[in-house]
Amino acid sequence: MSEKSLLRVLAGETLETPPVWVMRQAGRYLPEYRALRETAGGFLDLCYNPDFATEVTLQPIRRFGFDAAILFADILLIPQALGMKLWFETGEGPRLEPVSNMGEINNLKPVEDIHETLNPIYETVLRLSSELPPETTLIGFAGAPWTVATYMVAGRGTPDQAPARKLMFEDPKAFSALIDLITDATIEYLARQVQAGAEVVKLFDSWSGALSGSCFEKYALKPAIKIATELKRRFPGLPVIGFPRGSGGGYIQFADAGCFDALAMDTSIPAIWARDNLQPKIAVQGNLDPMHMVTGGDMLVSETQRLLDILGGGRYIFNLGHGITPQGDPKNLEKMLRVIRG
Ligand code: CP3
Repeated sequence: MSEKSLLRVLAGETLETPPVWVMRQAGRYLPEYRALRETAGGFLDLCYNPDFATEVTLQPIRRFGFDAAILFADILLIPQALGMKLWFETGEGPRLEPVSNMGEINNLKPVEDIHETLNPIYETVLRLSSELPPETTLIGFAGAPWTVATYMVAGRGTPDQAPARKLMFEDPKAFSALIDLITDATIEYLARQVQAGAEVVKLFDSWSGALSGSCFEKYALKPAIKIATELKRRFPGLPVIGFPRGSGGGYIQFADAGCFDALAMDTSIPAIWARDNLQPKIAVQGNLDPMHMVTGGDMLVSETQRLLDILGGGRYIFNLGHGITPQGDPKNLEKMLRVIRG
């Protein structure tokens, strides 16, 4: 049996103390991250430098002893590897030169070419797999095709993903071609991460809540199933975590798909509903409001305890419902861990 608690839960066990990690656990709320980022230059310089990326991945493990480490990278490295210009505007977020029609989509690089850009990421995974403590699980990740496409089409983050939704309805052929390209690139990207030592992969569909009608199945569920199924075919037993954020009842469809081992829950998923409707089928992860990491206090303690009380009797991985924000206080993380670990 594995000594890694995360792998045990993903294999179906219920543990007395659930494994815990935090989305965006390497990041600006940590002074040691901010210090290293200043030396590195920009965020992308951190991502593509295996020395730096390994170090920032390890920082939260050293400080908090989380049960899992997540590769330090970004979901937008795939568009960059497909030939798009990518940069981060300080204080604002990602910018890309958008693709908005079939011609521009056809001009992106073929999937075989992504590795020349992404090789440093695989090197980071390789280093992490030998440097992590034996009880810590290494998670690789990618953005889900729909979420990545929203950034490729808009050229930036958007509140309602309108540019991608517009292209999806006006030119479904071009949009499907884009989703297929990202899907295939994601399979190859994650396969290389697994070969380099990632023990679990997680697919972030941060904007799946914006997909309506038949489009949720077509552009969120189907590509996620294709990616998970193909990875499990190549790497039998590989655990896959889905994160169809904001999709509500869509979580049931993900749980029923049969190719995911856990679902990361956003803060809108009621714990009792998850206990009754998801946990009998699949492990669940989440979903404390990241704001508790800013505010702390008694509410942090009672809401953490509430999640443990409701979900701790089944397959459960403790996490936040979304990434910790730069305003998060490391002391509040320690407080949360004391409640979970006693
Ligand atoms: O969780 C981790 O610690 C692993 C690393 C990780 C990052 N981004 C590092 C990062 C992961 C898993 C991601 C995923 C990601 N990136 C998502 C999906 C998850 C989610 O949060 O919904 C999305 C939508 C992105 C795209 C992205 N990257 C945006 C919109 C931004 C700007 C917003 C922000 O927080 O600044 C980023 C930048 C980014 N990605 C940072 C980090 C640590 C901040 C970089 C910095 O300025 O130092």
